[in-house]
Amino acid sequence: MTAVEPIHDPAFDPELADVEMHLVPPTSPVTGTVVKNEICMSGKSASFIRHVCIDVAGTPIEGAFSAGQSFGIVPPGEDHNGRSHKVRLYSIASPTAGEDGAGRILSTTCKRVIDEYQPSSDDDETRGLFLGVCSNYVCDLRPGDKVQVTGPVGKRFVLPKDPNRHDYLMLATGTGIAPFRGMILDMFEGAGGPIESEVHLVMGAPYRSDLLYHDLLTGLAEKHPNFHYHTVISRELRPDGSPQGYIHHYLDREVRLHEDLLRRDRTLVYVCGLAGMQTGVFQTMAKLGVGGPYLKVKEELAGTGPEDWKSADIRKHVRPTHRCMLEVY
Ligand code: A2P
Repeated sequence: MTAVEPIHDPAFDPELADVEMHLVPPTSPVTGTVVKNEICMSGKSASFIRHVCIDVAGTPIEGAFSAGQSFGIVPPGEDHNGRSHKVRLYSIASPTAGEDGAGRILSTTCKRVIDEYQPSSDDDETRGLFLGVCSNYVCDLRPGDKVQVTGPVGKRFVLPKDPNRHDYLMLATGTGIAPFRGMILDMFEGAGGPIESEVHLVMGAPYRSDLLYHDLLTGLAEKHPNFHYHTVISRELRPDGSPQGYIHHYLDREVRLHEDLLRRDRTLVYVCGLAGMQTGVFQTMAKLGVGGPYLKVKEELAGTGPEDWKSADIRKHVRPTHRCMLEVY
């Protein structure tokens, strides 16, 4: 995951929770024990995504991670250069108190990377199955297996110190839902009692069967009237036959999200998932005239309408403010 550094503007800054970082560095990982590894999709799907729980009791990570942070996993073995594999970062999917309520068990959401290796389209010899090293290692782990872990890392993609001071728009695609699972559990089921703020989570997935933690999120939305769970299924149609599109198309259609929620001074936006999300989300917010508090558009784009912004322009010239947390991969 890459956290995109925000533009600093004190007028908009929320006071984020203080968190611990780098207690276990990648150079000297510690041993955790897998306690659960289960499929977390809503049905049969072309993807394989698992909720993996790791007991870190007795390590410096115990009780020291927060929802929204990441941790590292070092897969065993060596890379093609004969060097030990490097650490891979995974978003923590658990609430700050962990899966067990005592900070001993953290979890993540891991998708198997399965692809076809095609270095050159006219070179049939080199075609073959490509399996992501760490994702398949993690998805194969069984309860009782030992795993090398590091972390925690990340201080930007966390909740404010006083979550009640803000309202929230959380935008996720695919496994980008992981940090939101933990943050939403913190907000609604955590020690401080359910927050009174308005929280909207918009989740984008290719098919309904790819929705992650769907039962949990649906249950929370039924229980807490101020938590709103929206799904955008890119490869399914709306009742009128038009495509549902991506999350930014949904934002465009759902007038209450931009006319009401995004215009409030107290709203924070959190975006997590595919790197491409940033383009549509930033462009749509700017086009709707609500980008101001969340985005700083540099002079280079001043004369260009948001509909004409290219992805590369956005990456270079549009930065999130402290009211917009962005974590993309
Ligand atoms: P699609 O794959 O139909 O193009 P997953 O990670 O499980 O594949 O899900 C990612 C979801 O995000 C899918 O619905 C995917 O749509 C959608 N998506 C792909 N590109 C973008 C983008 N640039 N902005 C927002 N959503 C996207």
